[in-house]
Amino acid sequence: MLLIKGGLIVTAERRFDADILCDDAGQIARIGANLEAPTGCTVIDASGLLVMPGGIDPHTHMEMPFMGTTASDDFFTGTAAGLAGGTTSIIDFVIPDQGQSLFDAWRDWRGKAEKAASDYGFHVAVTHWDEQVHDDMGRLVREGGVNSFKHFMAYKNALMIDDTVFLRSMQRARELGALCTVHAENGDAIAFLQAQLLAKGETGPSSHPLSRPAAIEGEAAQRAITLAELDDTPLYIVHVSTEEATQAIAAARLKGLKVYGEVLPQHLVFDESVYHDSDWLQAARHVMSPPFRPKAHQKALWGGLISGQLQTTATDHCCFCQDQKMRGRDDFTRIPNGVPGIEERMSVLWHHGVVSGRLSAEEFVAITSTNTARIFNLYPRKGCIAPGADADLVLWDPSASRTITAGALHQNVDYTLYEGMTLTGLAVKTISQGVVVWDEGTLRAERGKGRYIRRPALGRERPL
Ligand code: URP
Ligand code: ZN
Ligand code: ZN
Ligand code: ZN
Repeated sequence: MLLIKGGLIVTAERRFDADILCDDAGQIARIGANLEAPTGCTVIDASGLLVMPGGIDPHTHMEMPFMGTTASDDFFTGTAAGLAGGTTSIIDFVIPDQGQSLFDAWRDWRGKAEKAASDYGFHVAVTHWDEQVHDDMGRLVREGGVNSFKHFMAYKNALMIDDTVFLRSMQRARELGALCTVHAENGDAIAFLQAQLLAKGETGPSSHPLSRPAAIEGEAAQRAITLAELDDTPLYIVHVSTEEATQAIAAARLKGLKVYGEVLPQHLVFDESVYHDSDWLQAARHVMSPPFRPKAHQKALWGGLISGQLQTTATDHCCFCQDQKMRGRDDFTRIPNGVPGIEERMSVLWHHGVVSGRLSAEEFVAITSTNTARIFNLYPRKGCIAPGADADLVLWDPSASRTITAGALHQNVDYTLYEGMTLTGLAVKTISQGVVVWDEGTLRAERGKGRYIRRPALGRERPL
């Protein structure tokens, strides 16, 4: 048993002084003033600290095979790094091989994830359509604990689907009570622009954003919303990076549609100038999709989060080391797309969101944990501080500062986007399943301790 004494509890709704008793089953047993420690109970002094629900990162790619290589953080190292940063659950993506059944792919990914140190779930990608996909979606929802499917409108000749497949999947998801998630960029237009840039000899990383302009995300986001509106299918747009997509989501919500948007902290902090670094590797390290944007888009993304039109934050954690990024030395379209960030997410958002005055601490909890739990039907087991909830908590020092360096982080990758950035707000202790796994700089993540969390189909009521 674990008793957390003297902290200020912050939830998405309110803040209050109380102690929290966690039982040996890894759940919150009691919350109250001056709780007595049962015999044999470990007591943690949380005075001066905030006690918040552990972060949930609904968009990670641990050990994902992608663009001819495999993301370097595996389910153990990646989730362990998450714990060091205050994130206690992830939702990763099952990406079936060409022609592979969704259910077989899900089984394979369950196997890979057995080494995870924190709890996890899966979205399953629909990358083609046939009767087997229709049936597997049903089986995954009914037997697999999957309530969200992923669709790529980009990555032509790889993961991309056309609108017909997307509509079929939307219809099926709707009848199953599952959520459609989407990477919204127009893959045909990207392939066209990429080919033109390469033909002109523009082979460096600075061509990456030119091949994926903001309008191409805006168009795809609007198209996805239009398709979803046909049958009022709930839609979650991942890694929203533009003003265009933010406005499309806001307009859809004003119409009453169940459309949700996710923001990555890196898109809030960096702009497209990162691609003009004279050091090829430094520029290549920022190659991810959607790319970093001109500054004006950051204002729109903050506005989306502040207003609640964009509900969640994630990282799209997808790590590639120097030798992997070098695959695209002579051709920017071969640079593996992806960046790290699971360990830095909470601090970056606290510093740039709360310390800057844009967000309250309660709003921080909402966008890092509670909203995600609600949208993906993990609430109130996750994202919540209440008796019966999982004892996944972060003890947060709101005023401690540190300067980020890759060497001090735990991600299995040779850089951080935030190198040299001084951030205020720090996970002092992380508690997962009622156990302290990150303790003032000591990581005690345990391989295989993470559990697969089944997410039931969504009911008729609107989560947010
Ligand atoms: O560049 C990215 N984002 N890589 C991971 C795959 C995806 O599009 O989310
Ligand atoms: Zn059907
Ligand atoms: Zn994506
Ligand atoms: Zn992704």
